[in-house]
Amino acid sequence: MALTRDLTAEQEAVLDGGMPRLRDLPWRRTRDPWAVLVSEVMLQQTPVARVVPRWERFLDRWPTVTDAADAPLRDLLVDWKGLGYPRRARYLWLSARACVDRHGGSVPSTLPDLLALPGVGPYTARAVMAFAGGSAVGVVDTNIARVLARRAGRGLTAGAAQELADAWVPRDRAWEWNQVLMDLGATRCRPIPDCDGCPVDCAWRDAGFPDPDPAQGSAGVSRRQAPFAGSDRELRGRVLDHLSDGPRSRASLERLLVGNTVDPQRLVAALDGLVRDGLVVANRDDTFDLPRGETGPSEISVTAHGT
Ligand code: ADE
Repeated sequence: MALTRDLTAEQEAVLDGGMPRLRDLPWRRTRDPWAVLVSEVMLQQTPVARVVPRWERFLDRWPTVTDAADAPLRDLLVDWKGLGYPRRARYLWLSARACVDRHGGSVPSTLPDLLALPGVGPYTARAVMAFAGGSAVGVVDTNIARVLARRAGRGLTAGAAQELADAWVPRDRAWEWNQVLMDLGATRCRPIPDCDGCPVDCAWRDAGFPDPDPAQGSAGVSRRQAPFAGSDRELRGRVLDHLSDGPRSRASLERLLVGNTVDPQRLVAALDGLVRDGLVVANRDDTFDLPRGETGPSEISVTAHGT
């Protein structure tokens, strides 16, 4: 007797409908945990199309955990340009170092070990487990959270969504299952859904799509992002760009960045935040640079000079 457990009709329909149309994405052709971790960290806040070439370039440059752990942090930060949310580059670098220090240069495979890596939360940890290890865990990203809430016909807490996701995974087909659900959420079960031929037994659809959409009351379903242009996030990115060729004095940064929309206080606040986040170092001679390694809390106050 084969040990494969029977699928429910719904699970079978989801897999049979979804596998032939699974998007061909490069991280779906590997089971290497480091490559999967890098893809998941990039995909957290950057659209798929922008991630594809950057993921390939990153792994050409740092194909193993050890390669990334041995690199200066500044190299990862410079490479990250254009992906946004550069804290993620630092977390990846810190995670690579933690994998070398604690796990002999491998990405761990258990939930507690993964969750203990810097910047790795419940989503990323389970994505690595399912997509690298084939573990039977439910991966709940923002798209799958929407599918789960609509299927349940009610808003879900993060804990409830995780429980439902875990219970729904076919034990032997966790990789396929989670990838298919991710695509179903990303391409079909959109904020405005396209339900034609959808294989999910969906309480919300069966009830005639009553208002409000259950996905709107659920944890983990993303809201609109604040505009980027003119934001502090944009200014932080511009500071990092100007430091990518080497250290710069405060005066040079002011010359480059202070203008109509950026006053000196805003620049000081941006520098202060970047130093606090370990993305910039403030030197004693009032120059600023990208960090080569891990920085402790800076002893040098960004506001100390000339204010
Ligand atoms: N977003 C996060 N993980 C993903 C994956 N494995 N495939 C497509 N989109 C994703």
